[in-house]
Amino acid sequence: MARSARKKLTLPDLAAMKARGRPIAMLTAYDASFARLLDQAEVDCVLVGDSLGNVIQGCDSTLPVTVDDMVYHVEAVRRGLEGAWLVADLPFLSYHDRASALSSAGRLMRAGAEMVKLEGGASVASVVHELVLQGIPVCGHLGLTPQHVHQIGGYRVQGYDELLAQKLREDALALEAAGATLLVLECVPSALAASVRDAACIPVIGIGAGVDVDGQVLVIYDVLGISGGHAPRFVKNFMAETDSIEGALSAFVKAVRERRFPGPEHSYSGP
Ligand code: KIV
Repeated sequence: MARSARKKLTLPDLAAMKARGRPIAMLTAYDASFARLLDQAEVDCVLVGDSLGNVIQGCDSTLPVTVDDMVYHVEAVRRGLEGAWLVADLPFLSYHDRASALSSAGRLMRAGAEMVKLEGGASVASVVHELVLQGIPVCGHLGLTPQHVHQIGGYRVQGYDELLAQKLREDALALEAAGATLLVLECVPSALAASVRDAACIPVIGIGAGVDVDGQVLVIYDVLGISGGHAPRFVKNFMAETDSIEGALSAFVKAVRERRFPGPEHSYSGP
């Protein structure tokens, strides 16, 4: 497979981007071919998301995804990727205690991930701490956490209520204190996301969290307009503006870097 001559991005590079106010562009990938295209488009971070349960396996949630599934896709993405920072999701019930978290994260790192992502706040802080102690970089995920879909009561915006908003800010700081070095914030009002971005020293990457964060992530099939079904408000089909996959990926990166995406039409304000 042809390789791009791209400098390898590191965790300190991501921290420096937040410090410099340079937005981080992140997309999901599940195979080597798209990983290579994401490198060519100069995406900063690639996420092998457990969204593969939805977009690859056709399930209606991420709950059926296993560590074996994740390892298969991380290995595939690793083979195609050179420069971007590679994050992999710890799937549902694979990090509920110290032993399972270490074993699952170890498998993802051996498969080629450089960081693992997990859902939850203060309740998973001890797991985050343990992983970090063992040299595994951790990305938190707050707001709409799809692994909790049945508890939340559906895929809905989180943090409209001030008590919940305060809890989310505290969760972000608990993750940071435990050693997390990146945070994904999904489906929260823009003002809340901006307050988390201001409070946290680590980069905050939004999805449906407005433009006032340190970067943006989307599912690649949403960017290419091929996910099917009802698209959430925060999704933008970048294929509508171009005639090639490469063009759509570059347009996403450019729009994120120039803070033109997400616009108000892709964001949530008050209740
Ligand atoms: O699984 C995933 O793709 C994700 C992103 C939507 C942030 O967690």
